[in-house]
Amino acid sequence: MTEESSVDFRRPAPLREGEVVLLRQREGLSYLVPLAAKPTAIEGIGVVDLGPVIGRDPGTMLPWAGASFRVLRPSLADLLGHLRRRAQIVTPKDAMYLLYLAGVGPGARVAEAGSGSGALTIVLAHAVGPDGRVVSFDRRADFLANARHNVAAAGFADRVEFLERDVQASGLDGGPFDAAILDLPEPWSVVPSARANVRAGGRVATYTPTYNQLERTVRAFRSERFEEIRSVELLERALHVGEGGTRPDFDMLGHTGFLTGARRME
Ligand SMILES: C[S@@+](CC[C@H](N)C(=O)[O-])C[C@H]1O[C@@H](n2cnc3c(N)ncnc32)[C@H](O)[C@@H]1O
Repeated sequence: MTEESSVDFRRPAPLREGEVVLLRQREGLSYLVPLAAKPTAIEGIGVVDLGPVIGRDPGTMLPWAGASFRVLRPSLADLLGHLRRRAQIVTPKDAMYLLYLAGVGPGARVAEAGSGSGALTIVLAHAVGPDGRVVSFDRRADFLANARHNVAAAGFADRVEFLERDVQASGLDGGPFDAAILDLPEPWSVVPSARANVRAGGRVATYTPTYNQLERTVRAFRSERFEEIRSVELLERALHVGEGGTRPDFDMLGHTGFLTGARRME
């Protein structure tokens, strides 16, 4: 800490009332909960008084009813690991590269369709930070309700707006956005409204599981005069690390989807 600054960059910010924390009992057993000053009912544990950890550093221990929990500030992986799934979600490798293709960073205003289970919405809300905004469209009220639940559980409700809308029929709305990300069956039909709702220089990224969808999507980007169009597929291979026996895992997720990024220019 310097004399000029009152912020100590060597210490994490203390745990605040209202923020979402991870109560970690052991590897594979943890709970995502809002940090409340009063006793909180937590499914799987019972009623827990989290009040004593408010103002303490993340990582502090909380003994409770014969068990003990480490109280952590959740990582993005923790948030996605506690998701309640309805629709098929985008995998982390694809979600992180979609951020790159769409140029999403702190403070950005991003449109997303469809919301699905809200996995990508959480990744977007995490990336744009407290000064950014995500507007997420889905045509199904039940998926929207689940995605809203997941985003609130992750602590991002104040940076995400969910709207019920068939964007293939009615298009995106509410621009100008800095970026748009499309993960729905016919992204090509949304590309014209993405052009209308993304600012000049902003980017659009799409996720398409099949080559046929990819071709139609790129054709739509070209006919809407998008530039810097680039499509990729990412293959992730986990490694089994053993002393003297380190090798790739035998099992691999062979296919997820193809990612395309494009830039809206005049
Ligand atoms: C594969 S899921 C999206 C998953 C999401 N990216 C995630 O990571 O959780 C596709 C979503 O698109 C929505 N969808 C399909 N067609 C749509 C349309 N025309 N307008 C709006 N949403 C649509 C579906 O209801 C579904 O929730």
